[in-house]
Amino acid sequence: MESMAFGVDFETTNSIVCTWGSQIREAFQNEKPIALWDTSVIATLGKRPHPSVVWYAPGKEAVVGHEAKSRMLSYDGMGHAFVRSIKRRLGRNEDVELTGGRRKPAFEIAAEIFRHLKNDAEKHASLALLGDRRGTISECVVTVPVNYDGLQRRDIRRAMERAGLRLRCFLHEPFAALIGHFYNWEAKLQQLRGKRVLVFDWGGGTLDVCLAEVSEDGSEIAELAHDGIEDRAGDDFDKKLMTDLKLRFLSKSGLKLDDVPIRGSAADRFWGAAERAKIELSSIASAAVEVANFIEIYGKPIDLEERIEREEFENLINDEVIAAEACVHRCLKKARLSSAGLVDHVLMVGGTSCIPAVRQMLEKTFGARVAVAAEPDAAIARGAAIVAAERWEPFNVKPIAVKLSDDSFFTVLPAKRELKASASSAFTFYCIDPRPAVANLMFYEQAVNGDAEYRALNACLAVPSDPTIRQIANLDRIVARFVVTDDATLFCEAQSSSTGKLDSCEIYDLSFGLRLK
Ligand SMILES: Nc1ncnc2c1ncn2[C@@H]1O[C@H](COP(=O)(O)OP(=O)(O)OP(=O)(O)O)[C@@H](O)[C@H]1O
Ligand SMILES: [Mg+2]
Repeated sequence: MESMAFGVDFETTNSIVCTWGSQIREAFQNEKPIALWDTSVIATLGKRPHPSVVWYAPGKEAVVGHEAKSRMLSYDGMGHAFVRSIKRRLGRNEDVELTGGRRKPAFEIAAEIFRHLKNDAEKHASLALLGDRRGTISECVVTVPVNYDGLQRRDIRRAMERAGLRLRCFLHEPFAALIGHFYNWEAKLQQLRGKRVLVFDWGGGTLDVCLAEVSEDGSEIAELAHDGIEDRAGDDFDKKLMTDLKLRFLSKSGLKLDDVPIRGSAADRFWGAAERAKIELSSIASAAVEVANFIEIYGKPIDLEERIEREEFENLINDEVIAAEACVHRCLKKARLSSAGLVDHVLMVGGTSCIPAVRQMLEKTFGARVAVAAEPDAAIARGAAIVAAERWEPFNVKPIAVKLSDDSFFTVLPAKRELKASASSAFTFYCIDPRPAVANLMFYEQAVNGDAEYRALNACLAVPSDPTIRQIANLDRIVARFVVTDDATLFCEAQSSSTGKLDSCEIYDLSFGLRLK
């Protein structure tokens, strides 16, 4: 075991670092990793993760976390920009507009959050107690949503590098939550031998579901399936609620939508108030939403004052809850489980999972097997810290194959191959259909390891081929190269011998497994 290792959960709404290793175990006699909660509020608010909010004030360095969030909800100054949910904008090569024409690449804004997490974690009292032995964070395991593609992972890596952090490996967020919740120092994950766990993680930016199984002998844990939704999560619920509140406000005031541009700080405060009401509705039946100076009409400020009932809110998000239920069932189907009864535990994490209708939806299928993770804000980062400290290396769970012309499958990435940068493997295929001017390589994953059924992946290579040559020789030689990247993706490239033309793609939809040494 490492003496001190780190896991980072960089998230849409809240982010946190956890640490684990023999030195932490000796010093604190903990059973599990320590969460390095935000030091700036631990005395006043208690154990809180860092809000993923960045505040740019004119002529000043960026401020991140609780200070940025509280300023965002109250500030009325000109020239200030607040950026939240930057994680949703990674991987698109996109600049984010700040104020006064200033723009910044999304990954640089994410880098501010990583830098803040590193700085705050390094001054944490728990680590300071270790005196001279206290660690600085350089390398860490980082978690990502199940649908995060290669470009998004690359942006995370760039952001980390900017912040002086090195990536050890990526892990899927719900998979890490499972490890963080069930692990303890003595047993590791042995109490889960032969068991299947479904993790349901609904946060501010994404829904991430994974179904994982620990082998009978306790030597491995592997994702049997995962599924996710990127455009229906807590942030979108806030926006739905804001639209509803705005319509109520308009119907009372007789104004039209175009008459009421909600600008600058009022927009940020409106979002804050809507989110607060949404959170309150998870524990009480009715919540007030108040926004001072909501709009200005002929220089006169007008406030918004509305009330929303839990039932009304649940009606607003009913489609999203149905979509989440479908996502869970897709995950079970992908794992080819004939019955939900074959799942031993269901673990809920993520703020959006606190909504009573969401829990009821899961209980409808899984009954009393549904449980909420202990300290859900830290479960994912704990899992990442455990994997870093235990040196569990991720491997690919299901073989990835190309479909051949006789409908058989040719494996290009076998199961159990380590998911870290490796030498490429090259194969030659012959394209025997002379008609179209492209040779297609379609990718599949074995539905379940050892199974005869294959599932089509959303990935394909289309290599321009020369029909004249192919009509003569009746085939074209396609040389394909495959390499696992440090981002736990499979880079695929193929070239036609007749045209010399290339095509490439990156498969990110791989399932993680870990050897529990
Ligand atoms: N009690 C609650 N009831 C309803 N929603 C809540 C509650 N607490 C938090 N939320 C919402 O959950 C979201 C934040 O959850 P969480 O901290 O799990 O997200 P995240 O991990 O930052 O996001 P993601 O995993 O999607 O990147 C926010 O949209 C927040 O408003
Ligand atoms: Mg999350």
